[in-house]
Amino acid sequence: MSLITDTVNRSADTEAPILPILAERWSPRGFDAEAVIDEDTLTTILEAARWAPSASNIQPARFIVARRGSSAFDTIHDALAGFNRAWADAASVLIVGVAELNIDAERENPWAKYDLGQAVAHLSIQAQHEGLHTHQMGGFDPAALGAAFDLSDDQAVVTVTALGMLGDPELLPEELRKRESAPRTRKPLSELLLVDA
Ligand SMILES: Cc1cc2nc3c(=O)[nH]c(=O)nc-3n(C[C@H](O)[C@H](O)[C@H](O)COP(=O)(O)O)c2cc1C
Repeated sequence: MSLITDTVNRSADTEAPILPILAERWSPRGFDAEAVIDEDTLTTILEAARWAPSASNIQPARFIVARRGSSAFDTIHDALAGFNRAWADAASVLIVGVAELNIDAERENPWAKYDLGQAVAHLSIQAQHEGLHTHQMGGFDPAALGAAFDLSDDQAVVTVTALGMLGDPELLPEELRKRESAPRTRKPLSELLLVDA
């Protein structure tokens, strides 16, 4: 395990105590371009996604899992927006999150994307527990990925998640390096609570 992973602390400044693993998760851009995730750990991380709750247990989340060095990884990387392409090539794995939008020929699943998000949240916390990091992305061309991986109209490409080990932020371009150490912020809790009766 790299020293950087063990020493960087970007823990959230919370208004109330939360589980340390939730506070400590953050989305880096500086990944270690040499790190390889062992297969058992990767399976564990994906298993965490499998055990996420979903509406009626329909389980609409699907994943395209591409290890660095595979042609699938390059395909996903090529589909990223430039501001993500600049750093995501150093991730060990790129994971495309796909939501199956229909339950069957007659019925849509209104919670498909919601459930995919929960599955990715599970995955990201399990990754954090394994000493790894995730960075979710919405900046990519979903149509390009749908075509490249032969997805149906029912299969919506929603996110790409970079998974890997923390790398040396000094290797990032200056603009990204600054963002890597910028304070992590959130809206106040009171702003989130539309009603708090
Ligand atoms: C659905 C989604 C899409 C995102 N898209 C991008 C993206 O395209 N590029 C990027 O650098 N970060 C992206 N992020 C990361 C967010 O900017 C980040 O989670 C947020 O700023 C909070 O920072 P933290 O995860 O370090 O707490 C995305 C996150 C989510 C959940």
